[in-house]
Amino acid sequence: MSLGSEIDLAALEADPDPILAQLRADEPVAYIDALEMWFVTRWDDVAAVEADYETFRSATEPSFLARALGTNMLTLDPPEHTRVTAMIRPEFRSSGRSGSFVTEELTAMANHVLDAVEPGGFDVMTSYAQPLAAGALATVLGLDHHGASVMWSWCEGLCADIANFENDPDISKRTEVVKAELGEAIRERIAEANEGDNSAIARFVQAGATPEEIINNVRLMISGGINEPRDGIGLVTWVLLSQPELRERVTAEPSDMRRLIEEVFRVYSPVGTVTRQATRDVELGGALIKEGDLVSGVLRSINLDEAHWTNPMVIDLDRREGAHAAFALGTHRCLGEWLGRQEVKVGVERLFARFENLRLDPAAGPVELTGFEFRGPKSVNVLT
Ligand code: HEM
Repeated sequence: MSLGSEIDLAALEADPDPILAQLRADEPVAYIDALEMWFVTRWDDVAAVEADYETFRSATEPSFLARALGTNMLTLDPPEHTRVTAMIRPEFRSSGRSGSFVTEELTAMANHVLDAVEPGGFDVMTSYAQPLAAGALATVLGLDHHGASVMWSWCEGLCADIANFENDPDISKRTEVVKAELGEAIRERIAEANEGDNSAIARFVQAGATPEEIINNVRLMISGGINEPRDGIGLVTWVLLSQPELRERVTAEPSDMRRLIEEVFRVYSPVGTVTRQATRDVELGGALIKEGDLVSGVLRSINLDEAHWTNPMVIDLDRREGAHAAFALGTHRCLGEWLGRQEVKVGVERLFARFENLRLDPAAGPVELTGFEFRGPKSVNVLT
């Protein structure tokens, strides 16, 4: 019996690392019956999948993502993907709208969110990381007049249908309401866009994107570009509060915060996988993948691959083993990675600067990570 046929999804969600380690060792390309797709768990094999978009396409059939959000960059392959991202990517570089937001507004936004937390103690995830990540993306896009909590409710609504694997009609109906409301907000923003408007949405219009391209891709950004920096802020905060030697090191050498963030992204990979579909029969890691099969490159696994990293579970600020894969490796490498990293860095720095005596709340019990596809702390309760 194959390992893949025995994998239990609840166990994978609860604690994926031992299961992935066993797959890497014994069945590196495994068919997971419970998900009806292949898991590719070694670094070299995932790198090969990511490099070959002609054999492993992103425009999968069926696609939950395209159903929930409409056709967007993550459901396209080159050359269409190249055409769409050329209009959108510039605003997520340091030279675009994200850059001016980070230099001029992010620190003040973090301070403002901190002004509103409960002074004695609070949950970093819901009271700080979430409103900061939602507010940051809203501001870059030019949707900030709707407020961070509306932005968050759009994110939750969209994500519910992306994960609606049972095709529950009530969930789809609720998401339709969110999609219509958000579509209207984006359409208004497109109609207002003029020469002097520096919001990312206005710049997408100026770059020649159609309203449908803008709406579907902004939906994608809202579904992925809030949860991940939120989880990043929560994870780095938890690591600093639970590993005092790392806190001491970063306090003594603040420039090491960048290395810490990269190591936390590597060890905890908030986005677990990338999903592709084989366009032909292909052999990979000793397995025969058939045309049409879905193939999941498991980023969480390759970021801990013993053949690629020395002592992979250790957060090592002196590691010099190249870039990790938490933002993926290929054509669809994260559009928002520069912005996301800045949100985590400034977010964590502001939090620790405001509360020098910050510590985990012992009454709340240990911090628990949940999820497989998206994995982060449920809550990080702190005392000030
Ligand atoms: C900071 C933590 C973040 C992590 C760990 C992360 C991770 C990832 C990963 C792994 C992918 C590849 C997905 C795939 O190929 O299936 C991706 C793509 C993407 N991410 Fe992020 N992301 C983060 C932040 C953001 C932010 C802040 C945005 C805001 C716009 C964003 C927007 C996107 C978009 C639009 C794509 C699709 C790119 C394409 O198809 O070419 N992400 N992200």
